[in-house]
Amino acid sequence: MPNNQIKTYQEYEEAYKRSVEDPEGFWSDIASTFTWRKKWNTTLEWNFEEPDIKWFKGGRLNITENCLDRHLKTRGNKLALIWEPNDPKERFVRYTYRELHEKVCQFANVLKKNGAKKGDRICIYMPMIPELAFAVLACARIGAIHSVVFAGFSAVAMADRINDAQCSMVLTSDGLNRGAKQIPVKRVVDEALERCYSVKKVIVVERLGWAVNMVEGRDVWYHDEVQGVSKDCPAEEMDSEDMLFILYTSGSTGKPKGVVHTCGGYMVYAQYSFSNVFQVQENDIYWCTADIGWITGHTYLLYGPLLAGSTSLMFEGVPSYPDMGRFWQVVDKFGVNIFYTAPTAIRSLMGGDIDDVLSYSLDSLKVLGSVGEPINEEAWHWYHTHVGKERCPLVDTWWQTETGGIMISSIANVTPIKPAHAAYPLPGIQPILVDAEGKEITENEVEGYLCMKFPWPGIIRTTYGDHERARLSYFSTYKGLYFTGDGAKRDKDGLYRIIGRVDDVINVSGHRFGTAEIEDAINHNEHVVESAVVGYPHDVKGQGIYAFVICKEVPEREDYLRAEIIETVVEKIGKIAKPDKIQIVSGLPKTRSGKIMRRILRKVAEGDTSNLGDTSTLLDPDVVDEIKAGAL
Ligand code: WTA
Repeated sequence: MPNNQIKTYQEYEEAYKRSVEDPEGFWSDIASTFTWRKKWNTTLEWNFEEPDIKWFKGGRLNITENCLDRHLKTRGNKLALIWEPNDPKERFVRYTYRELHEKVCQFANVLKKNGAKKGDRICIYMPMIPELAFAVLACARIGAIHSVVFAGFSAVAMADRINDAQCSMVLTSDGLNRGAKQIPVKRVVDEALERCYSVKKVIVVERLGWAVNMVEGRDVWYHDEVQGVSKDCPAEEMDSEDMLFILYTSGSTGKPKGVVHTCGGYMVYAQYSFSNVFQVQENDIYWCTADIGWITGHTYLLYGPLLAGSTSLMFEGVPSYPDMGRFWQVVDKFGVNIFYTAPTAIRSLMGGDIDDVLSYSLDSLKVLGSVGEPINEEAWHWYHTHVGKERCPLVDTWWQTETGGIMISSIANVTPIKPAHAAYPLPGIQPILVDAEGKEITENEVEGYLCMKFPWPGIIRTTYGDHERARLSYFSTYKGLYFTGDGAKRDKDGLYRIIGRVDDVINVSGHRFGTAEIEDAINHNEHVVESAVVGYPHDVKGQGIYAFVICKEVPEREDYLRAEIIETVVEKIGKIAKPDKIQIVSGLPKTRSGKIMRRILRKVAEGDTSNLGDTSTLLDPDVVDEIKAGAL
């Protein structure tokens, strides 16, 4: 394993201390464990005002040389990727580092053959099949910027992302398997491309063997293109601060923004955080259940594990198919040692029969992880007891698309663990809590807004095509700080517990949506005049989506109207953003200046109307009674 792994609590303390006193020396030493074509001149240049952040300036590298080539000598025959299909009866596939290197090079050559070059943006809309991993790495190999769009987003959502980044190519598949369902992916791409003019080529990977529409001159099959293509492709030399990828994520305003990560810093942070948090050992089989369409899949299914020379398992399916024991069956089948999943998956499995987990041995497991949303204590204990048999440290890892990698988390077997607490900042991470005025709260046993006061290599550099948006979203709320959008508590021992978003972002099953984004989709429905969306506690999803909707006329059948509104959201965003509850109202609680008082709506959605606070500033206080009476 890489020689930058912390092994004891004392080492953690020393590393942390050094990372604060001498951040450049600290990160410089870690970066030196990678392969660079040319060493950097300056370790860090930064200011949070513009913001302008550069790590390892002047360094030249290619991240795929670090993920693949550098392992060939010592780990060529080691497994890099294990792929388990949706259907347990279908055969799994394994790739050694040597084989993965060849696959990535071939895919890269296919990209080049079809006109892709350094700096191009390429949209990847693919299911969890090995070619998705090859595609991402192939882009990085040739210096093209990948923008992976989760294959559950709608055509409209994909088109918005393609247009924002002006992608010249789309990599996709004929269809996908999700549990018992098969979904026509290429059809969604075709629909999206009716709205996009920048895309010149579409490369289609066959998964289901379905006949699909192929547009002459634009669409090609991957299996045709790869015929006779070389298994070697020299890696493009990149600058540390060249873009590696764009990943769209929701904020509290407007459309999703393209979070930009760059080559050098992201690489260093992905491997360092991966190797340390999970304390990965050379022969471990590691499984992260996230889809590559999200940041967790980018950093901890693909880049982190490969940079560390580990064996990463990729799963096409869902936890409930063919039954609720599927995750545990896969753990036993491959002898998974480290398992990383989301609280929402745990909560949904808790609802099943306990024998679905108890009938598997799970002996191979050594470390468990959680990510994406606050894990409630009940879920934490169920996971720790029934999956980890109280033997495996369970690390609760807090981070964001914008942070590139894990920021606050216990380190397995190294730092203490407290249920439902992310606990400690990793070395190099300097979190602080501030009050509403932005003043730092230095004591313990407090609650505040979570900010970072110093950059780390994986930090967001910009939002694609709109730097001002990055500044406004993250660096302007509190001067000189990166603001996470989360609220957090710090206990008497200084351990952090993340409470959740304090902005208008809802976290549904670990997926972020802006309330404004969902409202915008709902408002597209022709019957709708106005809407307001809030989150509310949901047993499985963490947060559910509650929409208050004003219609043009009183609908004859509310259920029809609700179904139609849901349809509109599915069309504009995707099934993952479907409102759970839609309440038709005649008005919304607004202040005299026209601002919707979401605090009141949140209370109603939570079912807690006993104390709605001061409603005297409302334009029309009566509307609150009506909303209360009609609450779902
Ligand atoms: C939330 C996912 C509590 C948080 C990696 C954050 C968490 C948002 C945790 C980022 C955790 C993520 N405990 N909350 N362990 N992990 N979150 O960008 O609100 O999809 O701001 O990144 O998820 O979501 P994103």
